[in-house]
Amino acid sequence: MRVTVIGTGYVGTVTGACLSYLGHRVTCVDTDARKIDKLRRGEMPIYEPHLEELLKLAARRGGIDFTTELAAPAAESDVIFIAVGTPPLPTGEANLSYLEAAARSIGAAMDDAGFRVVVNKSTVPVGSGNLVETLVREGIRDTHTGDLKRIRFGVASNPEFLREGSAIADSLYPDRIVLGAEEECTMRALRELYRPLVEQRFDAPAFLPRPAAVGAVPVVTTTLTSAEMIKYAANAFLAVKIGFANEIANICERVGAEAPEVMAGIGLDARIGARFLSPGVGWGGSCFGKDIQSLLHTAQEYGYQSRLLEAALEVNRAQRQLVIQKLQEKLFILKGRTIGLLGLAFKPETDDLRDAPSLHIAERLLQMGARVKAYDPIAMQACRDGNPSLKIQYCASPEEVAEEADALVLVTEWRQFARLDLADLAKRMARAVLVDGRNLFDPETARQAGFDYSGIGRPQRAARANGTPHEVP
Ligand SMILES: NC(=O)c1ccc[n+]([C@@H]2O[C@H](COP(=O)([O-])OP(=O)(O)OC[C@H]3O[C@@H](n4cnc5c(N)ncnc54)[C@H](O)[C@@H]3O)[C@@H](O)[C@H]2O)c1
Repeated sequence: MRVTVIGTGYVGTVTGACLSYLGHRVTCVDTDARKIDKLRRGEMPIYEPHLEELLKLAARRGGIDFTTELAAPAAESDVIFIAVGTPPLPTGEANLSYLEAAARSIGAAMDDAGFRVVVNKSTVPVGSGNLVETLVREGIRDTHTGDLKRIRFGVASNPEFLREGSAIADSLYPDRIVLGAEEECTMRALRELYRPLVEQRFDAPAFLPRPAAVGAVPVVTTTLTSAEMIKYAANAFLAVKIGFANEIANICERVGAEAPEVMAGIGLDARIGARFLSPGVGWGGSCFGKDIQSLLHTAQEYGYQSRLLEAALEVNRAQRQLVIQKLQEKLFILKGRTIGLLGLAFKPETDDLRDAPSLHIAERLLQMGARVKAYDPIAMQACRDGNPSLKIQYCASPEEVAEEADALVLVTEWRQFARLDLADLAKRMARAVLVDGRNLFDPETARQAGFDYSGIGRPQRAARANGTPHEVP
């Protein structure tokens, strides 16, 4: 099929690359000319593992190109995806200005040559299923004359569940596809588009073999509003789940229980599930905070106060503060101390720093008069560019961060940090204090390497059943 994807961010570029890899002819459109130039040159505007390789294959399979001009590709397309940003406004409401502009431009590009489907992949407030349709119609009205009914289109919601860092695998081998639409012809077009993915009838790329457990992908077909609600409900649930793990971890620390052991114990219960139960410095990223705030805003509009979702935001705010408290416990005074951050990205395998705990922690430390050094394998440039006022000393390696530092904080659990020579790091430091914000290291190993170690939900001396405390060297 002929497809246009509007927005070449984390979602749009991956969606375009995957649909083209499946055999569709795709044009990706963005108003940001620098991004489009980069993509045309074969450079990636974002860091996402395997994206560059997939785009090369996509160009040879369905074909993919990049442009700032929407009108021509939109007019030729059977399916037009909107994948623009919906960042939060100060009120918590989603900023729909990018979505509105995209929808109006689609309307302006429409003609009566055939039936088109406009698919909303951006995360938009629940209950605004009609907004895109209204705006496309407005775009048509503003630019066309005569019988406007002859211009036919359908609107669908197809929320995106990819995770940055594993976005290609999540898109090629998804847990499910959610399609929300009101008319059968719209649904039919989307079923046709996704058929190769649903039936898994494509050769897996060599760099991402199809996992053995992947079979036909379940398709959940719903109304527009339900599809939108599914996206918000999924993100809200995941954020609550992590918040729950953090709350339990904080209690564990006080009573002498090991949070990772507790999480392993509950995670094996099929009703609970092991994933998203790792205690840490709190979740971040572009979606959880923004989507919960947007959902709270919608609930409020309907006169409903969601206490659980409010608590999820509050628990996460407090969790980020926990790192500062742990540093104060160890160092007493933070003014004038040098704190080294290992990791800046909100999670491993991405350069995304939106709502990253690292930024909050760095800001707080700097406000308190500490010096902040940092190393991240991928996100340093993005951090420098996006936060020029944050006076972080960027280092070329974890070893450089450790040099003369009073404490290290592991903020992002990049795999390469797990292989660090902890004894070497400890020797370089003024004080070998380690706050392991992701429970990446084995406490015993870290202590034997010379560190004064603290994790999240890991008491200094774990209580043993026989009453003898576990000895910490
Ligand atoms: N990032 C994720 O992991 C993720 C996952 C699921 C859903 N989502 C949702 O998907 C949407 C996009 O997220 P993202 O992270 O890809 O955002 P992003 O900020 O990385 O990309 C958005 C892109 O849209 C472009 N854009 C804005 N207005 C435009 C217009 N009128 N025409 C053409 N291009 C335009 C911007 O220049 C930018 O390149 C959001 O609603 C987000 O909530 C994101």
